[in-house]
Amino acid sequence: MTKNGMPLSVKGGTLPPNRRISLAVKAVRGMHDLLGEELFRWQSVEKKIREIIEAFGYQEIRTPVLEHLEVFTQAVGDNTDIVEKQMYQVQDRVHPDSDKAPETLVLRPEATSSVVRAIVEHQLHRLPHAQRLYYCLPMFRHERPQKGRLRQFHQIGAELIQDASPEADAETIVLLDTIFKSLGLAGSDYEIRINSVGDDKSRPVYKQKLVEYFKPHFESLCEQCKKRLERAPMRILDCKNESCQALALKAPRMVDFLDPESKAHYGAVKQRLKESGVTFEEDTSIVRGLDYYSRTAFEFTSPLLGAQSALGGGGRYDGLAARFGEDPFPAVGWALGMERLMLALEAKQLLKTDVRGPSYYFAALGPAAFDKLFNLSLSLRRKGVRVEMAYDKDKKLKWLMKQADRVGARYALLLGDDELKSGQASLKRLSDGNQESVALGTLEAELQRRAQNEA
Ligand code: HAM
Repeated sequence: MTKNGMPLSVKGGTLPPNRRISLAVKAVRGMHDLLGEELFRWQSVEKKIREIIEAFGYQEIRTPVLEHLEVFTQAVGDNTDIVEKQMYQVQDRVHPDSDKAPETLVLRPEATSSVVRAIVEHQLHRLPHAQRLYYCLPMFRHERPQKGRLRQFHQIGAELIQDASPEADAETIVLLDTIFKSLGLAGSDYEIRINSVGDDKSRPVYKQKLVEYFKPHFESLCEQCKKRLERAPMRILDCKNESCQALALKAPRMVDFLDPESKAHYGAVKQRLKESGVTFEEDTSIVRGLDYYSRTAFEFTSPLLGAQSALGGGGRYDGLAARFGEDPFPAVGWALGMERLMLALEAKQLLKTDVRGPSYYFAALGPAAFDKLFNLSLSLRRKGVRVEMAYDKDKKLKWLMKQADRVGARYALLLGDDELKSGQASLKRLSDGNQESVALGTLEAELQRRAQNEA
């Protein structure tokens, strides 16, 4: 079954839902298998996104799934939901003779911290040019699963390291906008909301103003925001609780407390976005759920999604490296959620559904013909031609032709022992039933030629 509760579509048909299965053969709650047509659609979307990101000059990075706990407690911040409630923690093993306590490792809940950890580890920020890195990786957060919110989900993200200019912020936002447009989403299918959250000098002043503003209204805050008030008052601004939202509307705004450099930076980012034709809205409630942002913060939300409307988000994080005790370096980036993007594309019917079957289905009728076709199938596959063959040796023509149809082959190649003697095989095009004879002497070259022409 797919995550939508629909029967699973795989090549050759639709599988009935299996209703009586034990826990041991069920994926963990909030985590899903990807296979069949669904995976085919994911792969074609991923391929397109990779092409666009690479055209913008980004190179892929793959970091380990497990990181030391400190990577996230230090980088994402202790006062965030991710660190407080959502991290999957694993006790590492220690040798039975060791007297060391086992270390706590974490399944990465997000990848920006891992990327910065990798940059520092490999000293990439010391290179004399900016680094553009992207990833396409599973993330793990112990959240309450619902539509568009999973415990294992997939992000594609882009990080531009060692560039403090407003053009770098604009580039990353234009990149994400280009991705969504190239996949067929229209301007009305998503909104881009941006804000500036200031820098390390201006934010403490602003936070103090917020605490002073919210304190007299303490009793009207939700339980979570009561706790946030002293430790992370900016998080109250994006609380979904009605009473907190009503208070947040009249709260002091970060944009009014920006230091002159942050203000100029924000102005230049907006100007660049306008010039590049990107439609955006300024939204002072965008503070993001991670603690490492400075200056620009942005979110792409879509009315095509339900409650979990964020398609992607990001911002600048110039102070993150310093949290690892490293000399600070400027950086900006974003991540999009693949599951949510697929939901939005599905809602707009923008997904490819045709799983491509093999070019040829080999059907042998007789032991000598079987040997000939088996060897030919391996030879063609080694040359990159997609061939499938039935290894059941006692099947009749009717069954073999049905199989060719089920696997979605373009041609069926039929060979019996009699045809083998006469030196001719039959090639049947399954779309219209057209059948021709091909001399065995030229068969391999002919099959290769047709497959290449169709590719
Ligand atoms: P984030 O806003 O936590 O940012 O996540 C980015 C995107 O991942 C969200 O907009 C959403 O589409 C998707 N997402 C998040 N949680 C879930 C979930 N439980 N299930 C399904 N999708 C989810 C970050 O992770 C930052 N590292 C982004 C960034 C990169 N900032 C700078 N560079």
